Amino acid sequence: MRLKRTHKCGELNIQNVDETVILNGWVERIRDLGGIKFGLLRDRYGKIQFVIDPENKDIYDIAKNIGNEYVIAIKGIIRKRPEDAINKNMKTGEIEILVEDLEILAESETPPIYVNKDEEISENLRLKYRYLDLRKEKMQKNLLLRHKALQITRQYFSENDFMEIETPYLTKSTPEGARDFLVPSRLKPGSFYALPQSPQLFKQLLMVSGFDRYFQIARCFRDEDFRADRQPEFSQIDFELSFVDMDDILTLTEGLLKKLFKELIDYDLKLPLRRFTYDEAMNKYGSDKPDTRYGLEIQDFTEIFENTGAAFIKKAIENGQKVKGIVLEGKATKFSRKRIDEYTEFAKSVGAGGLIWVKNENNNIKSSIKKIAEPELNKLIENEIIKNNNIAFILVGDNNEINKILGHIRVKLIKEEMEKKDGFDVLWIVDFPMFTWDEEENRLVAEHHPFTMPKLDEFEKFADSEPLKIRAQCYDLVINGYEMASGSIRIHRKDLQNKIFELIGLNEKEINEKFGFLIEAFKYGPPPHGGAAIGFDRLIAVMAGEESIKEVIAFPKTASGSDPMTEAPSSVSEKQLKELKIKLNL
Ligand code: AMO
Repeated sequence: MRLKRTHKCGELNIQNVDETVILNGWVERIRDLGGIKFGLLRDRYGKIQFVIDPENKDIYDIAKNIGNEYVIAIKGIIRKRPEDAINKNMKTGEIEILVEDLEILAESETPPIYVNKDEEISENLRLKYRYLDLRKEKMQKNLLLRHKALQITRQYFSENDFMEIETPYLTKSTPEGARDFLVPSRLKPGSFYALPQSPQLFKQLLMVSGFDRYFQIARCFRDEDFRADRQPEFSQIDFELSFVDMDDILTLTEGLLKKLFKELIDYDLKLPLRRFTYDEAMNKYGSDKPDTRYGLEIQDFTEIFENTGAAFIKKAIENGQKVKGIVLEGKATKFSRKRIDEYTEFAKSVGAGGLIWVKNENNNIKSSIKKIAEPELNKLIENEIIKNNNIAFILVGDNNEINKILGHIRVKLIKEEMEKKDGFDVLWIVDFPMFTWDEEENRLVAEHHPFTMPKLDEFEKFADSEPLKIRAQCYDLVINGYEMASGSIRIHRKDLQNKIFELIGLNEKEINEKFGFLIEAFKYGPPPHGGAAIGFDRLIAVMAGEESIKEVIAFPKTASGSDPMTEAPSSVSEKQLKELKIKLNL
């Protein structure tokens, strides 16, 4: 290479005028204006305009062959642009480089996707040519943000006495509850490694070893259905500490978040973060990951309907059920019958038997239950619960069930009816139930995982009688309606652990098969411990203002779990299968 760069494109400015510099980079565009060639040269640090004068014939002739995305080296003098050519939107917009020497370092065919323009293209195409997609300014910015976040995170933990320790990828199933990705063993035919869904068990073992403050930025693998905030492989900021309680862990996590938000996007996070109990969140927002910026809280109308003439409601209330709803302000006229039907169908699709609606149109009531519950509806209007041009959606039923359904309706209303809000809604959800009832399996299951410490007083009181009343010492971090992190204090007492296994119906054989090594390790002095894991991709996506975590991952998978570029997953050779003693049965 004859012309090796002396500077980077984005770092030059008016101070460099009259300097001779050499730049290397990609041609973002090049065009002829009145015989003079103007181009934009791009590298990771920015872009700068270059000018090729026809007077400089040799150079001009070479430049004639240059197209977009060619890699070139240019040598030239930095000069101030004429006043009318200054581009205020560009970092280097006041200057340009007059090219004196030019070398083509690599040619480029016409790229299948535009690097220099935002265009709607299929995800498949973007991912097939991801290396070109990553040349886009936005993607470069997002990956830089990610890189900086990694450095800040490492520094933060390191300064706080944490050790970064790597745990294996070829391992055994972990208790996170998704489907495992399996890797067949050649040396032990018929056996499989599982890729870790998280480093959970290993980090607990590290506590037994006395590494009382561990962290890792760990890749996790889960074979689950796709959503915008999920990938089959993703990264966690994973950490675990000994001799701590829940407050220590929340405070530590808050410290990291504050630093990341400040240093990455100059946002001041107010600490301590708000904490909602699980019950509070469910009763107010119908979700354990609420975005509280939008209000639209669930309201309890049970009292108003206590003596209603609407028999089905009265009966429900007598049976201990609730009447609850959400009031959307100022939008009643926007809800035609068709739209309301659509919401009713939606409510049914998430478990409702039906959906009651009430509109206030200039103090006239319109409602699906007007004929049978007019006095109560009048009360809702008189008490200014449903004001003019408000529409309310109401459900009758079991408190927990209708909370959840109203939570879904709330999210739909936010998405479809509310203006998008700026800023960050960051909060903790605490006091989750320890167990939930699995209808399909007809047994209790651990809500977080079976190593979560229950609230001990509740455990003693309810373990044998009403285990669903027991709450766990675990916590979730929620940002803008996304579950961002979760963690818990773990059980380190054998008697407690056995009792939990018994309650969730795991027998000794299953326990030993799944977590025998952990139980064994806990015989030898496990310290009290706890920790958490932050979904790193989700955190970066939220900070970058992206809806999908794919926008902050260099090489993500499509919704069907494939990579159009490498064509993974793909078939393997007969020889490989034979070595693994695997016969396909397709
Ligand atoms: P959990 O399973 O809640 O807890 O995971 C922690 C965080 O990881 C993120 N996350 C994901 N991000 C992208 N794609 C996915 N498929 C995906 N699944 C989860 C979420 C989530 O909050 N071992 C425990 C943590 C602990 O108890 O210490 C665990 O893995 O942001």
